[in-house]
Amino acid sequence: MDLPRYVDLVMIPGISFSILEPTAHADAAALIHRSLVHWYETRLRQGARFGESCAPFLLFPQVYEALDPGDSVAAFDQNGRLVGVCFLHPRETHVGVGIVAVEPEFAGRGIARSFLNRAVDRARELGKPLRLVSSLLNLESFSLYSRMGFVPHTLYQDLFIEVPITGLASASPPGVGQVRIASPYEARRIADFEFSLQGIRRQKDFEFFLQNSVGAWTVWIFEEVGGEIAGVLVSSQHPDWGMLGPGIATHQAAALALMWCALDTRRGQGTVALLPCVESELVRALYGWGARNIELHVAQVLGERPPAQGIAFPTFLPESA
Ligand SMILES: CC(C)(COP(=O)(O)OP(=O)(O)OC[C@H]1O[C@@H](n2cnc3c(N)ncnc32)[C@H](O)[C@@H]1OP(=O)(O)O)[C@@H](O)C(=O)NCCC(=O)NCCS
Repeated sequence: MDLPRYVDLVMIPGISFSILEPTAHADAAALIHRSLVHWYETRLRQGARFGESCAPFLLFPQVYEALDPGDSVAAFDQNGRLVGVCFLHPRETHVGVGIVAVEPEFAGRGIARSFLNRAVDRARELGKPLRLVSSLLNLESFSLYSRMGFVPHTLYQDLFIEVPITGLASASPPGVGQVRIASPYEARRIADFEFSLQGIRRQKDFEFFLQNSVGAWTVWIFEEVGGEIAGVLVSSQHPDWGMLGPGIATHQAAALALMWCALDTRRGQGTVALLPCVESELVRALYGWGARNIELHVAQVLGERPPAQGIAFPTFLPESA
């Protein structure tokens, strides 16, 4: 399919919009890093949490380009300087919106709003709802989405855990023997499992994780004694991106065993995981492993949200909820 090279967005004086080309990926990484550092430093005095280097953020455009070539949108100023990026992620059942970032000196001019309008148009063309995860510490982004009509539904707490070099201090939970690494051919089975619980389907994402050519992913499966899947968890092993998710489990014991196995491979490293706040036992088990809260996020939908069961673990890359 021929993708439009230039997208039609609301006119903002001095700003033009186009597809984010791979030649602009390094600029996109620098922009994402700069905008996050600026926002978190000026509002919360927490800019340092994003580190001094923009290099880790190169993974964002690279992952989205591999998953959805031509679906990332960029804004440029009159001199051709990149001043905004937004990643769209169309799936079988919905369209995901990845990180939206705008150059601080261009904030408040409607650039993010234009990106979101584009996302809404795209979802409307496809006849699918839009889904995303937004920070509850960041009122600008929460407001951006709620003004567009996004409705919050599930609250998550971001837990950061530094796994000691000797491994987690607590004993392994029951069920770790039922966890294994997925084979490269299980994407369909995993996607069906998620669909049966959450009503969303994204087989391409699981094929991408299992193929493992951009980033560094491990896909873990928890099986019941009869061989039925009861949980799936993806973990990023990339040195620039230590995060658990996406994941889905039918019960807490499966979720805990999956997390323990994934964390055990991350000895000596820091990892972030988003856990539903209602899963109190799970959250407290992670506190017991040394986890600390670092942020709160909320999953939001624009359009219909199918009934959901099970325990879902979203991630920011690729954005999922
Ligand atoms: C969040 C961010 C993308 C917003 O970009 P922006 O281009 O300045 O946003 P816009 O100018 O399009 O304005 C956003 C909308 O939110 C509204 N808004 C902002 N704060 C608000 C508040 N407290 N209450 C209500 N509405 C608010 C604005 O009025 C505007 O709506 P409008 O166009 O209907 O008037 C930008 O601040 C940024 O890059 N932050 C750092 C990266 C980040 O945190 N990204 C989001 C997390 S993924």
